[in-house]
Amino acid sequence: MTLRLKDKYIKSFVDEAELKAIQSEITCAHKQLLEGTGAGNAFLGWTTLPDDYDKEEFERIKKASERIKKSCDVFVVIGIGGSYLGARAVIEFIKSPLYNNLKKDTPDIYFAGCNISAQYLNEILSICEDKDVCINVISKSGTTTEPAVAFRVFRALLEKKYGKDGAKERIFVTTDKARGTLKKFADEEGYETFVVPDNVGGRFSVLTAVGLLPISVAGIDIDMLMKGASDAAQYCKATADIDKNDCMKYVALRNLMYRNGKSLEVMVSYEPYAAMFNEWWKQLYGESEGKDGKGIFPSSVIFSTDLHSLGQILQDGQRNLFETVVYVKEPATKLEIPYDEANVDGLNFLAGVDLNDVNNKAMKGTILAHIDGNAPNIFIEIEDKSEHSLGYLLYFFEFACGVSGYVLGVNPFDQPGVEAYKKNMFALLGKPGYEEQKKALEERLK
Ligand code: PA5
Repeated sequence: MTLRLKDKYIKSFVDEAELKAIQSEITCAHKQLLEGTGAGNAFLGWTTLPDDYDKEEFERIKKASERIKKSCDVFVVIGIGGSYLGARAVIEFIKSPLYNNLKKDTPDIYFAGCNISAQYLNEILSICEDKDVCINVISKSGTTTEPAVAFRVFRALLEKKYGKDGAKERIFVTTDKARGTLKKFADEEGYETFVVPDNVGGRFSVLTAVGLLPISVAGIDIDMLMKGASDAAQYCKATADIDKNDCMKYVALRNLMYRNGKSLEVMVSYEPYAAMFNEWWKQLYGESEGKDGKGIFPSSVIFSTDLHSLGQILQDGQRNLFETVVYVKEPATKLEIPYDEANVDGLNFLAGVDLNDVNNKAMKGTILAHIDGNAPNIFIEIEDKSEHSLGYLLYFFEFACGVSGYVLGVNPFDQPGVEAYKKNMFALLGKPGYEEQKKALEERLK
């Protein structure tokens, strides 16, 4: 079993009658997702991706990744939101948050276009100065401001370094299949392009070229990642029965928490390599469920680090939260605590103990303390941090998200709320067509 959900740390907070009652809603939502009869059903391509992903494109991703690995020291991945988080999450989870500093035979990878900071972009530019560089711009719409600005900057850098023809070999574009300015531009310039399928939204796109190309450049086995997702798809789709399907149990438990006033879910990991995975999960759930005045607010922590900052409020603050712990059973490395003759720190009782065991005891102690403090914990265990396990986990959370959105009564596949800031920003920047809004906003800012 790649993944197991244990409910023993939440059971006492759940009313058995309520759990039974939510089954019919879950059965209905599960059916809607599988049959494509729910809201947003034009965006269900991700449900079958692990098994029906375009084979030709998949092979081309692998070939391009080999070329990139051979021809550059630095690979700059340009994108934001769903066009960024999945790739970074997988690279940090499987490799390391310190990936760029490790000894390796794959390029350093930097992410740009995921903010509007001049300092951040300048720093990546200066890192690229004496290095061979390739870039991958990822934008489904092709019009998102942050990646579009970064693409301009890096395209200019590459053209200056290698000339227009040389740059062409180093620019890879992942975008919409046919529509959109970026696709047209890429074809005109002769850049190699990869597709974000029309029926896959940004936050569900990690298993398309959006995620797969950068992930493969990092030396990660994308076949095994897809296999993990495929196994999860089979499992999640098989039944809506809460007692037989941990994916549906997760949906049931989090919705019952929400209905009982726990409107904040904290994703907990005890490994820093999961920090970006948590960011990916936050976007997935925040953008899918947070609408129409509804939604569980997704947040995250890395323990034990954050026990020294947020531990107090989690233990003892407003009781509006529950936690979901993702635990990786088999650690990738071990570290034995050394014996110290002087024993100044009094830690000799731990001499010879593997640090993973200390981390596990910290986890168990924390879970018990938090449930004693009325913060229920959902416990999800995966076998290891392999490609297969992570692919499984990604799909598990995607599928749960789709079903959960329907149980909540929202369209989990749109994101109307993210437009508001963009309109204001364009107006304030003086984009043609926004003259009236500019005047009104500037008046409010006086
Ligand atoms: O999940 C989403 O839809 C968003 O986060 C988008 O991925 C993000 O806004 C970037 O959009 P685009 O890929 O069109 O540049």
